[in-house]
Amino acid sequence: MFPAISVTRASKPKQKPAADAPLGFGQIFTDHMFSMDYVEGQGWINPRIEPYAPICLEPSAMVFHYGQAIFEGLKAYKTADGAINLFRPQLNFERVNVSNARMVIPPVDEAFCLYALKELLKIEQDWIPTADGTSLYIRPFIIATDPYLGVRPAHTYRFMIILSPSGRYYPQGLSPVNIYVEEDYVRAVKGGTGFAKTPGNYAASLIAQAKAYKTGYVQVLWLDGVHRRFIEEVGSMNVFFVIDGKLVTPALNGSILPGITRRTVLELAKRIGLETEEREIAIDELITLAKSGRVNEVFGAGTAAVISPVGELRYKDEVMTFNDGKIGPLSQKFYDIITGVQYGTRIDEYGWIEKV
Ligand code: COI
Repeated sequence: MFPAISVTRASKPKQKPAADAPLGFGQIFTDHMFSMDYVEGQGWINPRIEPYAPICLEPSAMVFHYGQAIFEGLKAYKTADGAINLFRPQLNFERVNVSNARMVIPPVDEAFCLYALKELLKIEQDWIPTADGTSLYIRPFIIATDPYLGVRPAHTYRFMIILSPSGRYYPQGLSPVNIYVEEDYVRAVKGGTGFAKTPGNYAASLIAQAKAYKTGYVQVLWLDGVHRRFIEEVGSMNVFFVIDGKLVTPALNGSILPGITRRTVLELAKRIGLETEEREIAIDELITLAKSGRVNEVFGAGTAAVISPVGELRYKDEVMTFNDGKIGPLSQKFYDIITGVQYGTRIDEYGWIEKV
């Protein structure tokens, strides 16, 4: 039995976007949100669904000063028969606790969080957009709330879930993105927080992202923090290479985010009989392979981005183009299967879908 969730309805529901309105990504928020608080000695208390609104925190709240926080990202999909699908949400709440452990945040009850999310979605179901490529993006997060300026783990936290009807993460959709390989800055190091979904990792990435934009690139590909040689991940997704027909991705090493779409692609690859390899891939190895025409496709995989083909990678003065800058057959296949299962147009023979 889960604790009861109190519900306060918004007195004035907002105008929902028109069915064909461009939504952008993460810009519009629904009428309600879920919150609960952690108080040392009492655990997670006061679970509630209430109107989406600004929250009141002291300027001394620890999250503002030391960044003790974690977040997640998942999506709800409306199927043609009006059902609501979640894609492997248990894995997101499992990862909440992995991130929490690294950030010294007390664990949450994963099953209760999923139940709370479903209760919120039942109230907000009319906000799930149905136009092609759209979904309701779900953002669970936890922040440290103690009003205190010394460095230590907080004694109080807030867990929240907010919802955002969204379109594609990259406005260009499934067309290939051009990515800049960062050689000066690093995102994470082994022993650091790279594997946790914590805001500081993303804050640390902004400077390179800005540099990439200035030179006409959409995203950054990170190299390892020690040698600046081994490929890690792209800012908002994990990265895959099809090399001589084999699917290769950097092995999880503590500084790479263990993506749920990454895991899904690897599982799917095995099911369709594709050879997979999780290993170290050096940027110089990739350049040599690309020059000899052995890199058939490159794509990113992430919840927000789904499958995103990479048309070009730039490292220093080397520019590598893949599959003539067009979407490759395997990228298309993974995209079709994953989104087909998510939107209910394909049978879920994998047990990935959780109905609301
Ligand atoms: C997601 O893919 O859901 C993420 O959290 C990545 C974020 C940069 C949008």
